Amino acid sequence: MAVERSEQPEAAPVPLIELRQVTKDYGPIRALCKVDFQIREGEVLALLGDNGAGKSTLIKILSGIVPITTGEIRYRGEPVQLRSRQDSTNLGIETIYQDIALVDDMDVMRNIFLGREETGRFGLMRIGSMRRKAMEVLEHTVGISGIKSPEQMVRGLSGGQKQAVALARAVYFKNKILLFDEPTSALSVRETNKTLEYILELKHEGVSSVLVTHNIYHAYKTADRFVVLSHGRVLLEADKADTDIEGLTRVVVNT
Ligand SMILES: Nc1ncnc2c1ncn2[C@@H]1O[C@H](COP(=O)(O)OP(=O)(O)OP(=O)(O)O)[C@@H](O)[C@H]1O
Ligand SMILES: [Mg+2]
Repeated sequence: MAVERSEQPEAAPVPLIELRQVTKDYGPIRALCKVDFQIREGEVLALLGDNGAGKSTLIKILSGIVPITTGEIRYRGEPVQLRSRQDSTNLGIETIYQDIALVDDMDVMRNIFLGREETGRFGLMRIGSMRRKAMEVLEHTVGISGIKSPEQMVRGLSGGQKQAVALARAVYFKNKILLFDEPTSALSVRETNKTLEYILELKHEGVSSVLVTHNIYHAYKTADRFVVLSHGRVLLEADKADTDIEGLTRVVVNT
């Protein structure tokens, strides 16, 4: 019998990014196994799971630096290939890695603008303008202490300060999807709260974030949805409305 159109359930919106049945092998090691995963428009998604669960692998796949073994990646419903960081950047994805990728021998400003320098007439770099913006973004987004000047070399910064520079870089270019792989592990409590607040602020501007963290309280406070990985498989996927911190903790602790 034909069903009237109005009785059909509303179609779910097409996700920004979708992994379908993605498997990743590093030689004999299966890091991800048939993972289905979505990032939706304007959401904060927490990606949880024990050490070695496959979280960083998933982030690296989305950043284009680790190729999938089998499966499919879609962007707004269309199949895409992520073969390089450039492929990922072109889709509006920016990543802050757990193992920070900064250039030690460049100053703070150059690290923030690396590969996306502002140039003026004759192709000359607009150093003054970039310095000013670098300081602005550092002060306003992560409120990090101790970075006195955008000319400071990255080599001499603490772990937390380096993370702040990586965060400032991602934030300044305001991409559509930000992937944070344990961004707060080297930050103080105040800096961590600032970072989490900033993730929420960006959400209200329509930016989606994936937050990898071992801290369930941070995840619960910030995220709209949770995905728990265990041994490379999706163990739980839940909206905030369908779970509470105790339930989430039980799942994560028992992985
Ligand atoms: N380059 C690599 N070569 C071989 N095996 C790897 C490589 N990178 C990760 N693995 C393996 O893949 C699995 C998933 O690792 P991954 O780094 O994704 O875990 P994770 O969830 O991010 O863990 P953590 O919470 O400790 O950061 C682990 O068994 C790990 O040893
Ligand atoms: Mg990791």
